[in-house]
Amino acid sequence: MNQPKITVIGSINMDLVTETDIVPVQGETVRGTNFQTIPGGKGANQAVAAARLGAEVTMIGRVGDDQFGDVLMDQLRKENIQVDHIDHVSHTPTGLANIILSEQDNRIIIIAGANGKVTKDYIEQIKAAILTSDYVLLQFEIPKETIFFSIELCHKHGIPVIVNPAPAMELDKATWEKATYITPNETERQQLFGNQHNEKLIITKGKQGVSFVEAGKEQEVSAHSVDVVDTTGAGDTFNGALAVALAEGQSLTKAVTFANAAAALSVGEIGAQGGMPTREQVEQFLEKG
Ligand code: RIB
Repeated sequence: MNQPKITVIGSINMDLVTETDIVPVQGETVRGTNFQTIPGGKGANQAVAAARLGAEVTMIGRVGDDQFGDVLMDQLRKENIQVDHIDHVSHTPTGLANIILSEQDNRIIIIAGANGKVTKDYIEQIKAAILTSDYVLLQFEIPKETIFFSIELCHKHGIPVIVNPAPAMELDKATWEKATYITPNETERQQLFGNQHNEKLIITKGKQGVSFVEAGKEQEVSAHSVDVVDTTGAGDTFNGALAVALAEGQSLTKAVTFANAAAALSVGEIGAQGGMPTREQVEQFLEKG
């Protein structure tokens, strides 16, 4: 099987992760239990997930002219991700995510920084790299007009694109229709599509599994029961894995099953990219049932 070519257009963040037993209410100070800086960003996470699963991955994005930018670029290189189309923007900080981890779940505030400068013009300049992809992945941590432009570009050139609408942001109906698949979680689905379901929507529902429509019928793949250390990046793992499986020509049901297993394995370690599995790990996990 040929190595699938995946291009991710999206965010690159340094995650500032605070673990705490108590989440402070407004005006309150509490004692946390641990703090770490960990590579993240929905775009970079999806790129790492796809690369660990065996794809040839190109990441398109921007970092700031600071130390975090250098660290994040090095991390992507270590994962064998092509970084020629990530540039350093001067006088701009690298994107950040403040993450509070408590009770096995997260609360995230993102600060766009250089992700806000992944402009439509930047994509236009490097579009040749996108046009050789088997699949493109997009999330919503870069400017809206860049998202429009990228979906349009992929559609025009017949390149399938998975749009992960996180964090949720409205797009017009005509643009949604140009996406090959849209992968909201349950909250994003309600915000953007209400109770609608259709062949484009693949809805990730955490412990309730994944719901999608194939051959006109609603299908469900159940979630796996696993020990959870940190759920940050589980959705990104799902998206990266889904792109790999679809680019390999797997059926939608098989691709969702593969991505669901990869996402389950990803929650076993701290950090968005920490627990992302290799291909072998996913295949062994699926074999064991
Ligand atoms: O999906 C998880 C990611 O969301 C984190 O890595 C953080 O950077 C935010 O982008």
